[in-house]
Amino acid sequence: MDQHGPLQREQLPDIKEAARLLREGGVVVFPTETVYGVGADARNSDACRRIYEAKGRPADNPLIVHIASISQLRELTGGNPPEAAVRALELFAPGPITVVVRHNGSISPVATTGLETVAVRIPSHTVALALLEEAAIPVAAPSANRSGRPSPTTHPMALGAMEGRVDAILDGGPCSVGVESTILDCTTTPQRILRPGGVTLEMLLAAGFDVAALRNSGEKRPEPAGESMKGGEAPTETADSSLSEYRAPGSRYRHYTPEAVVHLLEEGDSEGRGNGFLEGAEPRTVGLLGTASAIDSLALSVAAKAALLETVSFESLEAYARGMFSSFYAFDQAGCRAIIAILPPAEGVGVAVRDRLSRAGSAL
Ligand code: TXA
Ligand code: MG
Repeated sequence: MDQHGPLQREQLPDIKEAARLLREGGVVVFPTETVYGVGADARNSDACRRIYEAKGRPADNPLIVHIASISQLRELTGGNPPEAAVRALELFAPGPITVVVRHNGSISPVATTGLETVAVRIPSHTVALALLEEAAIPVAAPSANRSGRPSPTTHPMALGAMEGRVDAILDGGPCSVGVESTILDCTTTPQRILRPGGVTLEMLLAAGFDVAALRNSGEKRPEPAGESMKGGEAPTETADSSLSEYRAPGSRYRHYTPEAVVHLLEEGDSEGRGNGFLEGAEPRTVGLLGTASAIDSLALSVAAKAALLETVSFESLEAYARGMFSSFYAFDQAGCRAIIAILPPAEGVGVAVRDRLSRAGSAL
């Protein structure tokens, strides 16, 4: 998978210090290739509790555990990891894939929220890998945003979210993937994708995994009882089923929302909703993002264009994934009151982008 450049010599002291902090029960924000994470010793309940506090995260939403090698996965599973989990990591790690496996009890129940399973990944960012190797412990780390906010994909975003709440914040530049890892539940056969991400369904199928196909995003569905997702929109569903059963526990929470209100459009926008909305908006108050071709095809009127404050257009689905959360941040910084996001096609990493956008906003 994608790699960041080699470590700079001057980064080493900070990484060593951050590893020491982690071993001593501290909380450290570090870059990964997907998004920045806020990490602590996964075996230390007090340290893990501090992550929930720093994020304002509900206590029943388990954390992803980061490791440096497949041998650590063997340890965490009592020497008995599922074949599919090992294969997934052999093929796609270090990189944006997380495997859900049964653990041997060594991970804090604060990190797992008492589940028998744990979500584990090996990040490919050179700073993350160096930190994990140096610390030589499993590191629980959710995305480093305040709960409900967009995940940080740049150092300034991570600082904005976590400064003053943690013991250290490492700088690894902008994240190369930009959306969180794909979560693959390996406790069942066939395996199930609980969250789409940088390792796509197409990649898993091509590698011979027998995964349940994700249905397209953005379709209307009934709101599940007792959940707080906005707008009754289901970003993704597995082919055969009842959502809650198939999703990562955290998916039921409101997610990824910037200050500005996010409105979603399908590519093509045949009803002209984009023009209609923008023509009614105040001048220079709206941010627009989408693929370059989708933005061109909006054919905005002069009056509609006047409402735009910033426009970000992406040349590929990968660029969209990489730039989505940082665009939200830039729009908020610029003072946008609303954002129009044009949903990309549900293919490749576009599925993950649609998933995140559909939780951040609702159809225009
Ligand atoms: O790319 C990523 O995965 C980033 C970086 C920092 O590594 N981390 C991340 O963590 O996205 P977080 O906490 O924002 O998302 C973790 C998701 C949550 O939806 C949680 O419910 C789910 O993983 N999860 C954790 N443990 C699980 C388990 N045992 N079974 C199913 N889902 C689990
Ligand atoms: Mg998150």
